[in-house]
Amino acid sequence: MLHSILNIIDRFNQLMIPNGHVSDKGSYSTVPHIADKVNSAFLLVVVISVVLLLLVTSFMVYFAVRYRASNNPEPEEVKESLMLEIVWTVIPTILVSIVFYVGWNNFVSMRDVPENAMQVKVTARMWSWDFEHENGRKNKTLTVPAGIPVKLNITSNDVIHSLFIPDFKIKEDAVPGLETQLWFLSKEPGEHIIFCAEYCGTGHSAMTSKVIVMNKDEFHKWYEQEEDKNEAFAVLTELIEDNGCLDCHSTDGSELVGPSFKGIYGRKTIVSTNNMDREIIADEEYLRKSILYPDKDIVKGYSDEMPSFEGEINDEEMKTILRYLKNLK
Ligand code: CUA
Repeated sequence: MLHSILNIIDRFNQLMIPNGHVSDKGSYSTVPHIADKVNSAFLLVVVISVVLLLLVTSFMVYFAVRYRASNNPEPEEVKESLMLEIVWTVIPTILVSIVFYVGWNNFVSMRDVPENAMQVKVTARMWSWDFEHENGRKNKTLTVPAGIPVKLNITSNDVIHSLFIPDFKIKEDAVPGLETQLWFLSKEPGEHIIFCAEYCGTGHSAMTSKVIVMNKDEFHKWYEQEEDKNEAFAVLTELIEDNGCLDCHSTDGSELVGPSFKGIYGRKTIVSTNNMDREIIADEEYLRKSILYPDKDIVKGYSDEMPSFEGEINDEEMKTILRYLKNLK
């Protein structure tokens, strides 16, 4: 009995996943798509709920009319019915077991990482994502090849974040001091948005990135490409981006979590020091201090959100950043 029900469910699952198997070179033909499995589980729950809703509502209306007071002035006493009690215990138990079976099945395939998956290290921080490939390539976006399973090893530098890729229907917490895992396989080249799904402070809503899925040849070229470290501008931009500065500070004057970098050097600024307002000129000394000890002089209108970079960047990097800020007109 149970066996035949499970068979029906499996067939239902396959029915709902017409393209659920990747035939790419045949190597991943047995790898199901998590997003499709999640969708079919959701559909199953919706179908069961709608059928039950219609059933219960029809009975309710029928009984309300059939046994209305004007028709039955004398209420009749109803005694227990063993049959009824068995039915309303057994049917919900079967339904719940079916939903559990489908959910468990999907959970297992979410946890069951294909052995030859490409590994990417993911580090979350307030408020950006870092993705590092096995060859040391680091990026703020996640670039992967189509048709190859990708395993993400996730951790956090500060508080708990959560990596969420809605298109792939996957989500996992990024916890400081712990490594969590997630995997996916994307059939087609394309772009998919990444959100942070754990409230992590002022910049939470801006903590987005994207998955860039390239075809294999294109990815291979990208992966082997030497990063352009010779160009001075590339070094600057990389430094600013690697430290997540641009997640909170714009370069075009627009308001984000912190003041814009545009024209910041030499700007007259009101800052609040121990709750006392004073006017300062944002010179090199002020900027250096603000990077190392951001909680000392906070620009009026902003809150104390920035993490300290003391020990995070060396003197050389500090000079490069200050030069960058000076030149950003
Ligand atoms: Cu990180 Cu929300």
